[in-house]
Amino acid sequence: MQPSLALQDDQEHLPSLLATDAKELSYQLQQHQAKIFPPLSQKTIRTFSPAEAAAFIGIGEGYLRQVAADGHGPDPLANGRRLYSATDMDRIRRVLDERNGTPKYVPARRPGEKLQIVSVMNFKGGSGKTTTAAHLAQFMALRGYRVLAVDLDPQASLSALFGHQPEFDVGEGETIYGAIRYEDPRAIADIVRATYTPNLHLIPGNLELMEFEHETPKAMSSGTAETMFFARIGEVLTEIESLYDIVVIDCPPQLGFLTMSALCAATSVLITVHPQMLDVMSMSQFLTMTSELMSVVEKAGGRTSYDWMRYLVTRFEPNDGPQSQMTGFMRAIFGNRMLHNAMVKSTAVADAGVTKQTLYEVERSQFTRGTYDRALDSLNLVNGEIEAHIRSTWGRK
Ligand SMILES: Nc1ncnc2c1ncn2[C@@H]1O[C@H](COP(=O)(O)OP(=O)(O)OP(=O)(O)O)[C@@H](O)[C@H]1O
Ligand SMILES: [Mg+2]
Repeated sequence: MQPSLALQDDQEHLPSLLATDAKELSYQLQQHQAKIFPPLSQKTIRTFSPAEAAAFIGIGEGYLRQVAADGHGPDPLANGRRLYSATDMDRIRRVLDERNGTPKYVPARRPGEKLQIVSVMNFKGGSGKTTTAAHLAQFMALRGYRVLAVDLDPQASLSALFGHQPEFDVGEGETIYGAIRYEDPRAIADIVRATYTPNLHLIPGNLELMEFEHETPKAMSSGTAETMFFARIGEVLTEIESLYDIVVIDCPPQLGFLTMSALCAATSVLITVHPQMLDVMSMSQFLTMTSELMSVVEKAGGRTSYDWMRYLVTRFEPNDGPQSQMTGFMRAIFGNRMLHNAMVKSTAVADAGVTKQTLYEVERSQFTRGTYDRALDSLNLVNGEIEAHIRSTWGRK
């Protein structure tokens, strides 16, 4: 006899229970979020000191002072200091290029330079993918490149970090799933959103991305899909490619169809790794599985060669012996496929993350100066190194 599925009095009906909990959790989170960011307080990028602005623009501080004194910078504050917004930096780039008569400070792609698509991946959860992707995208936008960030993770942490709550602000078909789904796909141009960071656009994520994992096997077995699953992200990105210089894709912590599709769309790959034994062991599995899957995809015509790939050590604690050892171990094996700079672990990054902010958003006065500056220095070194790889694929210095 089959056991009865009818509920007994003292039993809980799990689906209803989970649905109720999800609703309540979601509501309370929204309340909490509203408290942290009252509706009128928009998320913004902070303003930058003259030294920071000069570095982002790519000129000396003295020259920046002169340009500002010529009337092209922000008005000075009461204390005579100038603080530069992202928009001020963009304006100054344009002024400098007009003066010189050649495009130099506005770094947009020139003819022959192809769109750079950087996929940030590793199936190890918490290896720093989203933190890396968010800061990389903002850094490049602050450097003046036209950047598109794509959230490919159903958990949508990148979207939340950029102020788009996956449950409330992202409707049906408004993730990249809307453009890559097998039935009735939308134009990707209709999905892209502007953000509060000038030059940075976002395709947010939410749970609907999971549909792609479910529908792909069906589409493959019925043979109905015009484009193979692994080519779909790359294909839709070509529709808007002239609008951007760099695309940064934040992958989910799984090696599913979405990640494989991001891998095939990518021109370069960043694999984040926290230098601890268990994480490195799991990365070894990740690499084996990725390699095997890519061989299959390659036979079906998917892209398998890249401009560059690098391992990035994340949440690095230089004073932790085992971590330094593990990093040395990886450097010995991977050589220059490791980025020279590692992203240090910092309470500034973790604390900023709690209020869904990046280091380019929080005010440095919220932290001990040394703490904030150390984190920012490390971040800028990592991002600068990635920028150099991108520029070198364009044949620039
Ligand atoms: N450099 C850092 N210093 C301190 N904390 C960090 C740093 N980088 C990331 N974190 C914290 O570690 C946690 C995991 O980071 P993150 O979300 O970027 O990882 P992930 O690989 O995207 O995770 P998932 O696999 O779940 O998508 C977050 O709470 C983040 O704030
Ligand atoms: Mg993530």
